[in-house]
Amino acid sequence: MAKSPRVLILNGPNLNLLGTREPEIYGATTLADIESGCHACAQELGLEVDCRQSNSEGELVDWIQESRDRHDAIVINPGAYSHTSIAILDALQAVALPVIEVHLSNIHQRESFRHRSYVSKAAKGVICGFGADGYRLALDAAARLLAAGRSG
Ligand code: DQA
Repeated sequence: MAKSPRVLILNGPNLNLLGTREPEIYGATTLADIESGCHACAQELGLEVDCRQSNSEGELVDWIQESRDRHDAIVINPGAYSHTSIAILDALQAVALPVIEVHLSNIHQRESFRHRSYVSKAAKGVICGFGADGYRLALDAAARLLAAGRSG
């Protein structure tokens, strides 16, 4: 049987606080709940997922670099680094895997400094404003992209 495609799910700074962090913006779902939802969804979609969170930009860059040989796609919520990190953008462009960017909140309805994401330049698509459901939507998009890549 063919090996299941592997998707790296990365969450950036402060997303470890989900559930208690500004629940009126980010919802009441914890990161552990999101990650277990991703595992269940991945199983339905025939994917394998590897979920990681870091508050450190360098650690996120290291994981992105390592993904080149270990994963087939990346789902990333870079948190505030979306709006500041050319290093994360460069790493994503270097590994050249399909990238889906997720934000729980609709960043375009918020402060103007959240409207620009450097990471979007490397993303196939961006899902924002659907809360924790955004991760499932992103995995569904990843499965479709990977299936299209295999048949195309
Ligand atoms: C976020 C949006 C960012 O602007 C913010 O800094 C976050 C979370 C989101 O998921 O809505 O930390 O990426």
